[in-house]
Amino acid sequence: MSIYGDYIKSVIRTVPDWPQPGINFRDITPLLQNSSAFRKLIDSFVHRYQDMELDAIAAIDARGFIIGAPVAYELGCSFVPVRKKGKLPFRTISETYTLEYGKSEVELHSDAFRHGDRILLMDDLIATGGTMLAAAKLITRSGGHVVETATIIDLPEIGGSSRIREAGFGVFAVCS
Ligand code: PRP
Ligand code: ADE
Repeated sequence: MSIYGDYIKSVIRTVPDWPQPGINFRDITPLLQNSSAFRKLIDSFVHRYQDMELDAIAAIDARGFIIGAPVAYELGCSFVPVRKKGKLPFRTISETYTLEYGKSEVELHSDAFRHGDRILLMDDLIATGGTMLAAAKLITRSGGHVVETATIIDLPEIGGSSRIREAGFGVFAVCS
């Protein structure tokens, strides 16, 4: 957890029963509307990763892009989008994964990384961990080395972060 973890958590809104009954949706839009909070969030990631000699930030469609791009800009490394199926125009590799209900698929351009590139994988939230894990597997398959996975919010009671760690990837969460 970051030193700003409690503060960041305080500006994230929980919307009960959305998009369906029983889901407490963590809405990051109040955090994004608050320029001071958004700066502290991005600074938390930059501070953690500034000496880790990263080659690229990979971030997951769509909310992951909001944090991944400014962190890549600040660290002076490249940005690679991991996209939902059917959005990338060039040659792709893909991984399917299980959501709480149903299946989904993420894709990566096959030329996104050089062998051994040091990659930070970012998304806004970890619930089941299925999305982050599928993206981490894609990066590994493409020759990249996932230095860590990073998120704003971990929901540890759902078990996703444990699942990601058991698969051999580190997890950093600003708050939980
Ligand atoms: C949300 C969130 C994560 C994922 C987390 O994305 O942004 O990517 O779910 O869930 P998991 O840990 O159970 O896989 P969503 O698919 O809703 O897409 P969005 O970013 O386009 O809103
Ligand atoms: N993605 C999966 N579960 C979520 C939740 N509870 N809030 C926001 N995004 C999510």
